[in-house]
Amino acid sequence: MATLTWYSIGIRIFGRTAVEVTRDPQAKFLAKAVADTLRMNGHEIQDVVDPFVGSGNMLYHFVKETRAIRAVGFDIDHEILKLTKRNFAKLRQFGRLREVNVSLAEGDWSGALPLLGDQATLVILAPPWGESFTENGHDLRKTEPPIRQILTTLSEQTGRGRLFAMIHTMPQVVAESVEETVQGYPTFETIKSNNPKVAARVNYVLVQIR
Ligand SMILES: C[S@@+](CC[C@H](N)C(=O)[O-])C[C@H]1O[C@@H](n2cnc3c(N)ncnc32)[C@H](O)[C@@H]1O
Repeated sequence: MATLTWYSIGIRIFGRTAVEVTRDPQAKFLAKAVADTLRMNGHEIQDVVDPFVGSGNMLYHFVKETRAIRAVGFDIDHEILKLTKRNFAKLRQFGRLREVNVSLAEGDWSGALPLLGDQATLVILAPPWGESFTENGHDLRKTEPPIRQILTTLSEQTGRGRLFAMIHTMPQVVAESVEETVQGYPTFETIKSNNPKVAARVNYVLVQIR
């Protein structure tokens, strides 16, 4: 939606979120690239889970592109979650959410763990949070908890459904932090955007956890 459109239907975001959010061109590109890759490899996603949901813009685009039937978001920040819930209610009211079952809850990311089970699930991990912006670039080892630890915890959950994680990285990422984070997990080939403005801002790694 154009800014004036979403503003006029009552959607609001905090200044902090305006800085942290993955904006539409980037979020749309990531969501389509990941959904296309999973489909090409024979995987249809049922649930999309963003345990660090912020504005929910990534969740929104990923649910749209994967055609998942359930969207789950957690955020530890009371005010952000309150506004995100309100914004999703507006999207529902204006017919932007198909019949997707959206569940947004305030709390630590680990609240999402019991929801992983027998359905094919894609987990979105879109830092920064914690101390991951460093003078050497974006460091995936410095989120709290580190992304590697999140992947380990996800891999320990029981369930028969396929489980994937999309880690949003930036072109200015500390390369070793990506290697260390995903080491030992199968990864899919990454698609690059032909739009130089998008390519300059986003990159990602798609891993299969089970
Ligand atoms: C970079 S933002 C996410 C941006 C989001 N992907 C978007 O497009 O708007 C990271 C979010 O994680 C939340 N957060 C930080 N630590 C958390 C934790 N332990 N559990 C859940 N949420 C957490 C922050 O409040 C923040 O809103």
